[in-house]
Amino acid sequence: MSVSVSVAPVDSLLSRRSVKLVQAPAPSDDELSLILEAAMRAPDHGRLRPWRFAIIRGDAVGKLADMSISRIKETGGELTSTKEESVRRWLANVPMLIAVACRLDHANTKIPERERMLATGAAVTNMLNAAHMLGYGAFWSTGLGTYVEEVAEDLGFDPLDYIFMGYVSLGTPINPVQPMERPDFHEYVTEWSGV
Ligand SMILES: Cc1cc2nc3c(=O)[nH]c(=O)nc-3n(C[C@H](O)[C@H](O)[C@H](O)COP(=O)(O)O)c2cc1C
Repeated sequence: MSVSVSVAPVDSLLSRRSVKLVQAPAPSDDELSLILEAAMRAPDHGRLRPWRFAIIRGDAVGKLADMSISRIKETGGELTSTKEESVRRWLANVPMLIAVACRLDHANTKIPERERMLATGAAVTNMLNAAHMLGYGAFWSTGLGTYVEEVAEDLGFDPLDYIFMGYVSLGTPINPVQPMERPDFHEYVTEWSGV
């Protein structure tokens, strides 16, 4: 039996790094579909497909900045003027965000909540990898009022039914993407051979 191993996709995975500073163009509709198809292939106990995404693009990115900043301020959250300025400066260039939530589905008591969140995290990881493979920069952020209930609500994710898990920003890297040094995996791995 011949086994053919294609290393190119693994090389691509190994070169992924998060890229925060991005600009237009965003992924096209076809590319965005591929990124979302990748999310749909995340491991998922019980086929609950707990991930939910809200696409925010174009002018809506600026509206999200206004909404989240005013909600943070209204609810007494800490936001210095320097932080607000830097968030606005960052988002002024970002052409697309994907807001991420995990649906709780209270009717299902079999799959623990942590497994639903892990599945949603895995879906996001698939999106980050797909975006990278398509040549885009992507970055998962839990800023922008992720933990302010009113922000999640305004995005359509009622905190009674969803855990809001932040945003993935997507676009074309502004600066050349340099390889990122990673720690030696051996430090994170043991071999178990029995008791
Ligand atoms: C759930 C989650 C939330 C994150 N939130 C933030 C954030 O709010 N701000 C930030 O600077 N990095 C955040 N990060 C880290 C970046 O997305 C990114 O992983 C980090 O900069 C390291 O880059 P790398 O992905 O290339 O290793 C978050 C990562 C995860 C997994």
